[in-house]
Amino acid sequence: VSSVAVLTAAGSGTRLGPAGAGLPKGLVPLAGEPLVLRAARGLAAAGCLDGVVVTVPAGSLAEFRALFPGDVVPGSALPVAVVVGGATRQASVAAGLRGIRPLLASTGSTSESGACADVVLVHDAARCLTPPEVIRAVDAAVRAGRRAVVPAVAVTDTIKQTGPTEADGAAAVTATLHRAALRAVQTPQGFAGLLLEDAHAAGAEHGGDEATALSDDAGLVEAMGEQVYVVPGHERALKITTPVDLALAELLLSTEEG
Ligand code: CTP
Ligand code: MG
Repeated sequence: VSSVAVLTAAGSGTRLGPAGAGLPKGLVPLAGEPLVLRAARGLAAAGCLDGVVVTVPAGSLAEFRALFPGDVVPGSALPVAVVVGGATRQASVAAGLRGIRPLLASTGSTSESGACADVVLVHDAARCLTPPEVIRAVDAAVRAGRRAVVPAVAVTDTIKQTGPTEADGAAAVTATLHRAALRAVQTPQGFAGLLLEDAHAAGAEHGGDEATALSDDAGLVEAMGEQVYVVPGHERALKITTPVDLALAELLLSTEEG
């Protein structure tokens, strides 16, 4: 059984603002190491993967490739392919999926299911501190037969649904969601390869532009009527989006046990 990760790093990191030093987010250093490299090392540390396809901005291909000398994750033997992503995260994942077959072919791994890989994990470079145990747990759940598995944590805020923002900046509350049943989802999101390929083909048919693209792959799978499951995520799997997140990630690193 083959298992490959698509590591999405084709975003620009707009919301990091000046804290991103004008770099695409994947190249932004966290305690001296670019986010994408940390994320790739985490995937390698999980020990359950046959390869990683990294999606990157078209203008930064050379800078990203330079992080993976010999086309492996540094310090490991895990094969890496760096490919150009798309205008939306969804398009980037689709580009990553297309990169899996050539990568596996070059390493001699095979897929039993006829998909690009039997198991595909989609992971955000922005979640570069995700513990290897979370990666292994998602991979193991898919291998064990759950076809769509996402890590998630309980939410601490009360979440309200609202209508449009009005001229004075206020918006009407339309619903208060029952917090105990809510989960904030993280990555890696794991799928049977065949299912994810189908979901992306269907998603591309229904648009996939800025306005309609989904921020999460499980959403595409749900839209196909397929059951998605959650397993426990981790606070260290936070997504680095804003300067505060970057500072928090630095703090988490400095308090790492062992
Ligand atoms: N991503 C991608 N291709 C895109 C957009 C996003 O591969 N066209 C990736 C990002 O690189 C990131 C993940 O999807 O690892 C989650 O996206 P987000 O946190 O929004 O990152 P950015 O899009 O880079 O940030 P921003 O939205 O602030 O510009
Ligand atoms: Mg974005």
